[in-house]
Amino acid sequence: NIDVSALVDTEGGLIDRSIYTDPGIYDQEMRRIFARSWLFLAHTSQFKKPGDFFTTFMGQDPVIVTMDKTKTIRAYLNSCRHRGVRLCRADAGATKMFTCTYHGWSFDLAGALKTVPNEKAYPEDFDKKDWSLIEVPRLSEYKGLLFANWDKDAEDLEDTLGDMRYYMDAMLDRDPEGTEVMGGVMKWELEGNWKLAAEQFATDWYHVNMSHASALMVMSPTGKGPKTEIVATPGRQYVSPNGHGAGFPTHPKSRFDAQAVHEHYDYEALRERLGDAAVEGPMTTGHATVFPSFSYLPVNGSIRIWHPKGPNKIEVWAWILVDKSMPDDVKDAQRLYNLRTFGPSGIFEADDGENWSEIQAISDGFITNSVPLNFQMGIGSEKEDGVYPGQTSELYSDAAGRSFYKHWSKLMNTPAWHEHPAPAPAGE
Ligand code: FES
Repeated sequence: NIDVSALVDTEGGLIDRSIYTDPGIYDQEMRRIFARSWLFLAHTSQFKKPGDFFTTFMGQDPVIVTMDKTKTIRAYLNSCRHRGVRLCRADAGATKMFTCTYHGWSFDLAGALKTVPNEKAYPEDFDKKDWSLIEVPRLSEYKGLLFANWDKDAEDLEDTLGDMRYYMDAMLDRDPEGTEVMGGVMKWELEGNWKLAAEQFATDWYHVNMSHASALMVMSPTGKGPKTEIVATPGRQYVSPNGHGAGFPTHPKSRFDAQAVHEHYDYEALRERLGDAAVEGPMTTGHATVFPSFSYLPVNGSIRIWHPKGPNKIEVWAWILVDKSMPDDVKDAQRLYNLRTFGPSGIFEADDGENWSEIQAISDGFITNSVPLNFQMGIGSEKEDGVYPGQTSELYSDAAGRSFYKHWSKLMNTPAWHEHPAPAPAGE
C-alpha cells in the first residue's frame, strides 16, 4: 500500500498530480475507496416488477441490480460462480432467471443457484446452496437513489450523507411524489482520471466563467453573456467532512431552467416545502458530488456516475431525472434542455471533458508530474453561515475539493474491511 500523506496537502491546498496517473494508486483506490464506500447503482424507478434488472459497476466490479419476487431490490456480482463468465450481458431488461452462457448454470432472482446441467457428475457433497451469487451486503435508498456498499459494517448511507441530504433534497424532494428517470442511460468515455470529474462537480464553480463562456452567451436569458451576469455571482459551497460537496449561486429562482419548467413550478409552494434558502440556493444552477463518484446538476436533472476504467479513463453514465408529477410536455422540455447542455454532446459537457482530457494527456511527463496543483482558493473560509446546514464557504472556493481529497487520503491510508489481518495505518 502506498502512503498518500505526502501527495495530498489539504492544509496548504497542494495536490500531487501523480494521484491521477499512478497505476498503484489507482489499484489502491479500488481496494480502499470503491470497495468500502457507498456507490450509486441506479434509480428505483428503473425497477417496477420482479425480474426487472440493470447491470452496472461498483468500481470495476460488475454488478447486476434486480428486483426479487418479494419486490426487494438486490445487487449481485455479475460473475458466474462456476468459471467466472459475466453472467448477464444485457444493459437492462426483465428475466426470471440469470443463465450463464458458458455451461448453463442458472441463478434465480434471489441469487440462488437453481440448475446445474449434468449435476450428477459432481461429487456427492456438492451443494448448490454453496454456490449462490455473491451478493452486495448493503443496499440503501435515499429518495429514489440506490446506493450499495461492499462493507457490511459500513456506516448507514443516511449518516454518511449527513447534511448533504439537505442539498440533495433540493432536487429529490421538490415534488411530493418524488422523482423518476426518463429514457435510458447515456454512456460515453472520457480520457481522464475519475477524480478530475468528481472533484470538479464537488467544488469548482470557478471554471464556469471561462470554460463555459461561449455556452453561457448562447444560453443566457438576456443574451448578455457571462461578464455581466455570472462573474460576481453570489453563492455558497457546502463542504462535507465525508468528501461530498455542493456549490450553488443564490438567486430567487434558477435562471437556466427551460421556460416550461419555470412555468410549471409554483415557487411559493416550493418555498413552503423546501424553505426559502433551498429554493434560492441548491435548487438553482448548482453542481454537486456525493463522494466518491456520484454527481448531479439540479437545474437540468443530470445525475451521473463516473465509472473508473483505469487511471486514465472514465466511463460516464448519465440519467435524466424529472419530478414525477411534471406534465409530459414539461418532462420533455427538461429532457431536451438536459441533452442540449449536459448530454453526451451537450455544449457544457464538451467543455468539461476537453479540460479533463488535457490535464490527463500531459500528466505522464516527468517534470510535469513533479509540479503540484493548486487548491488554495478560499483556504480557511468554510464556516457555519447560519443559513445553510454544515460548513459552507464562498461559491468561488476549493474548500469542498480540499475536503474531498482529505477524505480520499484518509480512506487510502486506512485498512479496509477486507484486509485481514489489517496492516498498521500508514505512518505508524
Ligand atoms: Fe458459468 Fe460455466 S462459467 S456455467
